This record gives sequence, structure tokens and C-alpha cells, in this order.
Amino acid sequence: MTTQEMNAAFEQAYGRKAEKMFFSPGRVNLIGEHTDYNGGCVFPCALSFGAWLLMSKNEDGVLRFKSLNMEQTYSIPISEIKPQADRAWCNYALGCIDIIARRHPEAKLESGYDLLYYGNVPAGAGLSSSAAMEVVTARAFTEEMMKGLVDEWMSGPESEKKYRTELALIGQACEHEYAGVMCGVMDQFASAQGKKDHAIYLNCDTLEFEHVPVKLEGIKVVISNTHSPHHLDSGAYNDRVRQCHTAVEQISKVKPIKFLAELTEEDWAQVESAITDPIAKKRARHVVGEVARTAAAVEALKKGEIAYFGELMTASHVSLRDDYEVTGPELDALAEAAWQVEGVLGSRMTGGGFGGCTVSLVKEEAIEHFKAFVGAEYEKKTGLKADFYVAEIGDGVTRLA
Ligand code: GLA
Repeated sequence: MTTQEMNAAFEQAYGRKAEKMFFSPGRVNLIGEHTDYNGGCVFPCALSFGAWLLMSKNEDGVLRFKSLNMEQTYSIPISEIKPQADRAWCNYALGCIDIIARRHPEAKLESGYDLLYYGNVPAGAGLSSSAAMEVVTARAFTEEMMKGLVDEWMSGPESEKKYRTELALIGQACEHEYAGVMCGVMDQFASAQGKKDHAIYLNCDTLEFEHVPVKLEGIKVVISNTHSPHHLDSGAYNDRVRQCHTAVEQISKVKPIKFLAELTEEDWAQVESAITDPIAKKRARHVVGEVARTAAAVEALKKGEIAYFGELMTASHVSLRDDYEVTGPELDALAEAAWQVEGVLGSRMTGGGFGGCTVSLVKEEAIEHFKAFVGAEYEKKTGLKADFYVAEIGDGVTRLA
């Protein structure tokens, strides 16, 4: 859908023109999975698909939510902002508006708004459609509710970086409070801080980050969709967060730590036996290994050692399968088929897991064979049809009009 078509859809929905338009991307994580809420590093990229928001003020004191993807519409008085029941999709936006006001005492919501959302991130694919919606809303409503501060933030590159980090934190808090997923900051951060043709090497403890060029001569980042929807809010994600807390508590008896990601692989050999809970031990082992793999992968990319980068991606999948137990038959089928293809440097699940997508590095000349072979193997094993996208790495959230 073009932005002209979105504008026309807004006019049709509300009988007048949209005053502003914003876009925020989804993301794919190259490596560093389930490390963010453990104080570790991640390495995601923003994608060219994401969420658009068109908006105009209204005189009615009501927030009207419509979406070109969802049938359900909502009309919520600005004096009654609170989580809506039945997993209402407007929660991802409403939460951000609420959290802006709570994080910034100077922020004021002075009128109602007519809002229209459109997203083209494949639904349930684990490519952060919800983070895109949160960050696009946070971008739009920070500007509406505290224009002075946003103008200041947008006045230079350093302050703009701080602003973008703030947008990510607003989105993450919304996910915690309005969707009940105790996620880390990776998805919202990638959506806010993305940069074309770069990945973001982010330390999720300090929030320091670096944009690293993704230069892959003759190699593409290919996303494969299981079409087996991931259920991030199904409880399994929050269970992993809790199991990691258990590991931190038990390790802290012999070595006080705040986060699992503080442990090096040498530390691990010393503290491992302090974890008495066998599940927590497996989870912690993944995190310690994944943090080391992520650092090694970033170094490899910087040196152009793409084959090694690919090997680390594959090792990441194995650890997520065996120790973190978040892959499941569909993601395993896709990754295992990809590993057999000549011209694949590495392949792994990306995002929360339990369905969703894999990410693979594939030589350009092997892409057609990759799609045919992996698609056929996947269908044979699962009865499902996979979809493939060659990723375009895009910029973070932006105002378009
Ligand atoms: C989801 C969460 C992220 C992160 C990943 C796993 O995408 O939203 O914060 O934990 O899972 O790496």
C-alpha cells in the first residue's frame, strides 16, 4: 500500500485529511537471542517493513483507533486511558500514551485524536509488529504531548539518539504494562534506532550502542516464515525470564551478580554447580554462551569473516533449541533444512521463538534453490508452507509528513 492510498483511507475513515504521518519499522535479530532481559548484547537490524500511523486532532476529547489490518475499532475518552480487555490491539498504542504522561510530568494530552494504523510486517512472524506500533505511537505522541522537549531533542544528533532511546523505553514499558510481556528492550530499540544497511550492537544493560555496517558481498539476509504464529504472551516467554532470575539468585550465593550476562565462559565453569535447578541451569548456559557468541559475531562481521559469523548463528540456534527450548518443530525444520543447502553460511531462529521466523545468510546464487529446497523439506515435515523474504535493512522511526 502506498502512502497516498493510506491518506485516502484516512479521509474515507474520518471524512478529513490526516495532519501527520509517521513510520516505524519491524526488526530481525541477527544474533543475541534472549540476552536482552539478561543484561546482555543483541545485534538486530530494522527492516523496511513496519507500521504507519496517520493522525489528526479532533474536538471530541476521544482517541479513535482504526486499523487497515484489524476490523475492531475503539473510541476511548482521553480521561479514561487504561488497559482494554480481550487483548485489544489498541493497547499497544494506548499504553504508550499513558506511559509518556507518567514518565514526563510536563507531557499533556490536550485533545482527542483520530488515528489510523497500517502495518505490513507479516502478522505473528516474530518480526516485532507490536514494537513497530508502540514506537510509531511513542514518536507521534511525544511530539503532540511535549513538543518543546521533542524540539530540543531533535536539535542535534546526540540528543536525537537520547530521544530515540526514550521512545524505545516507552514502548518496552507499554509491552510490560499493557500486554503483560516482560520483554527486554531489543525490539523497540531496533525500531527506534535502526539505520539503513546497519545492524545495532546494543548493550541492553547500559543502552550504549554502535551501528555496524552490514556489508555482505554477494550474500543476502533471508527471512523464512514458519507461518506458525508465535505466542509471545503465551506465558512461555515470561517463564524464561523467571527461570533466568532463579539462576541469578542461585549463582549469587557464590558470586554476586545482577545479570547472567555478566558471566564469562570461564566464570561459568566456576559457578555452574551453584545452580541446583536443572532447568534454570540450562537457561543460564544458553545466555552465557550466547553473549560470547554475539561479541564474536560482531567482531567477525567487522573483519568480513562472514563464514564464521554464519557458524555462530547456527550455534545460536542449537543452543536455543537444546538449552533454552524456544524453537519447536517448525523453526527446527526450517533451520535444519537451511543447514543442508550449499551456499548457506548460517541459519537460526530470530526473535522470541515458539514459531515465527528464521534468519539465514545465503549466497545470492543459492537463493532460488534455498527457497525451493527449504520450502519443500519444511512442508514435508510440518504440512505447512513457508514464506521467504530477502531482508532490506532500513532506518528507524521517522515522521513522513
Ligand atoms: C522478543 C522480546 C525481546 C527479546 C526476544 C528474544 O522479541 O520482545 O525483548 O527478548 O524476544 O531475544
